[in-house]
Amino acid sequence: MDLKGKHIVLGLTGGIACYKSAEFCRGLIKEGATVQVVMTQAAGEFITPVTMQALSGRPVFDSQWDARAPNNMAHIGLSRDADAIVVAPCSADFMAKLAQGRADDLLSLMCLARPAASVPLLLAPAMNREMWIHPATQRNLALLKADGATLFDVGNGEQACGETGDGRMLEPQELLQDLIAFFQPKRMAGHHVLVTAGPTFEAIDPVRGITNRSSGKMGFAIARAAREAGAEVSLIAGPVGLPTPRGVTRIDVTSAQEMFDATLAQADQASVFFATAAVADWRPATAADRKIKKDGSGDIAAMEFVENPDILAAMAQLPRARSGHLFCVGFAAESHDLLAHASAKRLRKGVPVLVGNIGPATFGQDDNALLIIDAQGTQEMPRNNKMALARALIENIAMRLEKS
Ligand code: CTP
Repeated sequence: MDLKGKHIVLGLTGGIACYKSAEFCRGLIKEGATVQVVMTQAAGEFITPVTMQALSGRPVFDSQWDARAPNNMAHIGLSRDADAIVVAPCSADFMAKLAQGRADDLLSLMCLARPAASVPLLLAPAMNREMWIHPATQRNLALLKADGATLFDVGNGEQACGETGDGRMLEPQELLQDLIAFFQPKRMAGHHVLVTAGPTFEAIDPVRGITNRSSGKMGFAIARAAREAGAEVSLIAGPVGLPTPRGVTRIDVTSAQEMFDATLAQADQASVFFATAAVADWRPATAADRKIKKDGSGDIAAMEFVENPDILAAMAQLPRARSGHLFCVGFAAESHDLLAHASAKRLRKGVPVLVGNIGPATFGQDDNALLIIDAQGTQEMPRNNKMALARALIENIAMRLEKS
C-alpha cells in the first residue's frame, strides 16, 4: 500500500484515454489512497460519473454550480485536504486552459484555486501526436512546468485515431508507479546508481547451463527505489522475466563475464554500486556448440570449470571506489551463520557496507529480511516486502553519502 493515507483528487478531461482512468482509479484505491474524482463535461462524453463513483467510492463532482458542497464552493472544499491533484487524462485544451489560468469549469477552477505550495498538480497529457508536437501545446507544456506543475511523460505507439507516435496517456500502472515515485523523498538526486541483479547463466551447450534460484526481485526493487529517490539508475540484469522499473536504464546480460563487462563499462559514471546479483562462481571452460547427447559424443563428467571474475571485488578496487567517489554495497546470500559469513565477506570484498540475507528464505519471494554490516557493527531490517526494504536501504545508504 504505497499510497496509504494519501488523498488524491483525480481530474478527468475529455479524451479517449478516460477508459484508462477507471483502471488508474482502482490502482490508487488498491495502493491505499482515497480518491475524489472531478470530471469536466467533455470527460463525461467518454466515461460516466457512475463508473468513477463506483470505483472511487465517492460521489463525483463535475460542475462548479453543484450545490452539494455545504458552502457551494466545491472548487475550494475539494482541494484543501488533497495531497495532490492528478489530471489524467489531461487534454490539449485543458493544458491550454491551465497555462492561461482560465477557470470556467470546476476542474480548472479548482486547479487555479488550489494552495499551490501544499497541493501539487500533476498532469498526464493524452492526445493525438500532431496535437502533442504542435508548438502551441509544447509552449503550454513549458509554461505549465514553469508554473510548478509536474508533467508525466506521454507514451508512444498506436493511437485511438489510427496514427502512431507520441501523445498517448501512460498506462495506469505506469502512472501509478510515477505517482508513488513523486511522493518519495529525493535523497539520491544527483547520483548515478548502478545495480546488478538476478542470476547469471553459464552455458554448457546450446540448451543447457548452470544458473541459480535468484529471482532478481531484490535488485529490481533497489533499482526502482533508487530511481524514486531521484537517482539516475542503470540496471544490469541477468536472465529474469521482471518488468523494468520506470525510468531505469536496463542492460540485459546472460553470463557472469557479460555482467562483468557491462558493469565495468558503466563504472566511470556511477557514484553508487549495489551488487545484488547472484553471480555464478564457475563456468564450463568451453561451452559445446552442439547439444551434448547421451550417445557418448560428449563427456559431462570430464567437464572443466574456470572461475568467473568477481564483479564486486573488481569495482571496489577501482581508484574511483578507493578515493570515495564510488560507494560499493555488496550482498551476501547465505544459508547459515549469516553474521560470520557476511562480515568476513565484507572484508574480503573490500566494501564499506555489505547486506546479508538468508538465500533459501527469500529466493523468489516478495519479502525478505536484511542484515546491514559495516565497520561499526550491524543493523537488522526485519522481514518486510522487498520494495519497503529497498526504500529503507536506499535511505540508509543516502544518509552515509550525505555524511561522507
Ligand atoms: N559477486 C560478484 N561477482 C562474483 C561473485 C559475487 O559481483 N563473481 C558479488 C555478489 O553480487 C554479492 C557479493 O559479491 O554482492 C557476494 O556474493 P556471494 O555469491 O554471496 O559471494 P561469493 O564471493 O561468491 O562467496 P561464496 O560463494 O563463497 O559465498
